[in-house]
This record gives sequence, structure tokens and C-alpha cells, in this order.
Amino acid sequence: MTRFIAISNRRGGVGKTTTTMMLAYGLSVLGFQRTLVIDLDAQSSTSITMMGHERWRLARRHARTVGDLLVEIHGESEEGGRGAGAGRTGAGRQGTGPDISPYIANHVGDVHITPGNRRPDLHAIPSSFDLDAREREMLILGAHAAPTIDGAFARLQERVARLLRSLDGAFDIVLMDCPPGLSNVAWGALRAADHVLVPYIPDPTAEDNVGWFIEQLRAIDPAKSVRVLANRVRSNNSFQMGIKGAIEDLYPGLGMHLPMRAAIAGALDFRTNTQSLRGKFGDGAEEVDNLLRAMLRWFESARDAPEPAYLDEVGADVSDAGACGREEAWEEVSLAELAAEEEALDASGRAALREED
Ligand SMILES: Nc1ncnc2c1ncn2[C@@H]1O[C@H](COP(=O)(O)OP(=O)(O)OP(=O)(O)O)[C@@H](O)[C@H]1O
Ligand SMILES: [Mg+2]
Repeated sequence: MTRFIAISNRRGGVGKTTTTMMLAYGLSVLGFQRTLVIDLDAQSSTSITMMGHERWRLARRHARTVGDLLVEIHGESEEGGRGAGAGRTGAGRQGTGPDISPYIANHVGDVHITPGNRRPDLHAIPSSFDLDAREREMLILGAHAAPTIDGAFARLQERVARLLRSLDGAFDIVLMDCPPGLSNVAWGALRAADHVLVPYIPDPTAEDNVGWFIEQLRAIDPAKSVRVLANRVRSNNSFQMGIKGAIEDLYPGLGMHLPMRAAIAGALDFRTNTQSLRGKFGDGAEEVDNLLRAMLRWFESARDAPEPAYLDEVGADVSDAGACGREEAWEEVSLAELAAEEEALDASGRAALREED
């Protein structure tokens, strides 16, 4: 079973991308989970952060982004139709709809598992600057099938949700980084999500913002599992802690907050050579560990909890990271090799992959 987690807040700059990235590394490097990150924000910061500029540009050039995938929804029947799933990941095909596997950039990120410098099971579907334009095109193309604007929005959202859910079974975790302001694609992700994490900065506008957003979420699904997470909290700031207390009296919190840390801000850089978690996050590595533990408690409170056994591994790995934090790449893959791999996926390559699977 795959857990679909959306990281979202209508407000910009609250730490959605930062939290997504910390979760991606926490779950894949410390928790050994098969993790897919989907960047649904046209700003593409998550993609650049997880893949580096050059590999991301390559994905755009080869039309392997969320926006390109969206185009595939058009022309599908409402129920989908051409066989689906994530064959390239080795998982069985699930449901129906377009083949998502060619859009997945395999083995992204710049952190290795220590000890042993093994690479985590961490993958991504990148975004691109034209994602919003693609969304508008999809709305126009689908408008004839819905009698009202709201109907057209709902129809697109449902189709996006169905597309995302077709990844069920291919990964342990799917993390969906949503854009600020929210788009229909983001609402599709929110519909698809089992869990919605809402990072916020505890300031005077936060209560209204978070409240509005959670109301909207409850309107689409009153049973959706939602947690709020205060971010950029300054130590001993009673004003911020007062706001956090007021918000978390109204909405369930994740049971922790993320402090304001230069090391966390610095971790948004991508490095070509992989490093340990400690090497990347510095003293923010404990926060990645705390975030992972809080997420696992959240999962455990849900119906079918995962085995809690890897909690011990988490503690061991974070403390080991300092000692084992050699900055080594596990396997140098040149851009030329990546380009060749992406080329191979074009037309005939895609067909071959489908046959193989
Ligand atoms: N805990 C933290 N400590 C220090 N800096 C942080 C922390 N969390 C986020 N930041 C910084 O705040 C800025 C905004 O963070 P981020 O990009 O994650 O927000 P976002 O909600 O994804 O923004 P957007 O709405 O534009 O997508 C970034 O410069 C990031 O480095
Ligand atoms: Mg962001």
C-alpha cells in the first residue's frame, strides 16, 4: 500500500518545499521507504533541489515533467484506457490511465545512506515553468464535458487525483509538494492524498489562513487526515508559541515544530557529490529525524500502521551520520549517460519498456 502525502498551504514561503525535501530524505534515507516526490509547483524549486539544474533541464527538454504528463490525461476516456502504473520502478501496473513511468526521474537527491554509502530508493517527477499553462490548456480542452466552470475544475481535479492514485503500490510513499495559491492540479493532489501536512509560520495571519485551508479540505473530504506543522519557530519566542498553541487547539498538530535554522535553509542547495544526511543538513539532521518520527506516529495512528521496527534504525543512522559522514558519490553518473538514458526512453524506448513490464 502506498501512502499519499500532500504538503500544502495556500500561503507562499511557509516551508512546503523545505518540509517536502526533509520528508523525502527522512523517509528514504533514514526510514528506507521507497519514496516518490512529485513537484506540483511551476516554480520547480523542489525539482531543482532534488535533481540539480542540469538533470532538471534535461527532463524538461525530453518532456518528462508533470505538465507533459497532464497532457496525457487528455484523450483518455473518463475511466482511463491505455494500461497504467509505474513499470519502470519495477512495480506492477495498477489501475488504468497513462503510463507514468517514463516521467519518473530515478534516483534523485544528493544524500546517501550511511554506513555503506548506499543510494536511497528516492525518485521524482519534476515540474516545469509551463505547468500552469498546461493546466489552463487542460481546462479549456475539457470544458465541453462540464456544464459549469466549477464542474470543469472538479472534473480536472478528479482526473489528476485518479492519475496520481494509479501509482498505488509502486512506492511506499508519494510526497506531493503543492504550489502556493493552490491550483486545480494541487486540488487534485489534495483529493488523492491520504494525509495532508500543512506547514505554517506562526504569525498573526496564520490562524485565518490555516483555518480557511482546512475548511476547504474538509469540504472535499471531512475524513481527510490533516496535521499542521509550525515552521521557522524561533526559540523562546512566546509570541510565536502563543499563536502555535491557538492554532493547534483548533487543528491537530504533528506533535513538533521546525525551528528557524540556517542549516535547514542551506540544505535547499543541490550538490553533485552525494553526502551523508548530517553533511547535508548539519544540525538540521536532528530535525529530519524528529520529522520522520512524528510522521511515523501519524501513520501509526492511521488504520494500517507500518511495522515500527525501523524506528531503531532511524536513531542509529542519524547518530552514525556524523561519524560516517564522508562526502563521496556512490556512483558517478555523467549527464551524457543520463541524456542517453532519457533518449532511450523516447518513442521506441517507451514501447519497449511497456512490453518488458
Ligand atoms: N526551518 C527553517 N529554517 C530556516 N529557513 C527556512 C526554514 N524553513 C524554510 N526556510 C526558508 O524559507 C524560505 C521559504 O521556504 P520554502 O521554499 O520551503 O517555502 P514554500 O512554502 O515551499 O514556498 P513557496 O510557497 O514559494 O513554494 C526558503 O528560503 C527556505 O530556505
Ligand atoms: Mg515551495
